[in-house]
Amino acid sequence: MKSEKQLYFIPFNDRTLISPDFKYTDEYKDIYSFFKNKAIKCQKEYISKCFELRSGDKCVGYLALSLCSVKQKYLSSPKNRGLFERPAIRIGQLIIDAGQHKQGYGSCAINFVISIARLMKSFLPCRLLVVDAIDGKAMKFYEHIGFKVIDENTLVFDLAPMFKPEG
Ligand SMILES: CC(C)(COP(=O)(O)OP(=O)(O)OC[C@H]1O[C@@H](n2cnc3c(N)ncnc32)[C@H](O)[C@@H]1OP(=O)(O)O)[C@@H](O)C(=O)NCCC(=O)NCCS
Repeated sequence: MKSEKQLYFIPFNDRTLISPDFKYTDEYKDIYSFFKNKAIKCQKEYISKCFELRSGDKCVGYLALSLCSVKQKYLSSPKNRGLFERPAIRIGQLIIDAGQHKQGYGSCAINFVISIARLMKSFLPCRLLVVDAIDGKAMKFYEHIGFKVIDENTLVFDLAPMFKPEG
């Protein structure tokens, strides 16, 4: 029987300790430093919600989310351009332990965000996921899982098709 690894998303709290064993390369030290030094403060000020990703007893990643909006002009066809904004969840920070890449954890984190949007939608609808990719590798990852580039390093994922009632 195939054994599936389970991934848990543990919300940050005052007791959250950033794992000293977490592996990352120098180019991503600002992301690690956000979780080590700023995440709890941002969360206390209701700016971000942060999660530790755990598989078994090992921390495999960190995720920070916030809310934002995207100008409709970046999304619509020319004849339908307006000044309106579309509500979005921003993937503020995401990092997977460098020893654990390409095992599905990053895409699982995005599926987790989609499930939050799905839960929220009866109370507070949200149309898009948005991310500013840190570099070309991150852009390729987001494009690979279905995000579309709207501006330089900004990508969006349209949630509407996933929310349509079945049948
Ligand atoms: C980008 C990152 C989050 C991806 O996480 P991951 O756990 O390695 O990604 P997954 O294993 O879920 O990959 C999902 C799919 O994307 C593909 N993929 C992952 N990284 C990719 C890349 N750099 N280029 C192209 N495809 C990529 C995988 O091969 C996989 O494809 P498949 O479903 O066809 O098998 C991770 O590499 C990371 O933490 N990078 C450093 C920090 C960073 O860039 N964070 C994003 C900040 S904007």
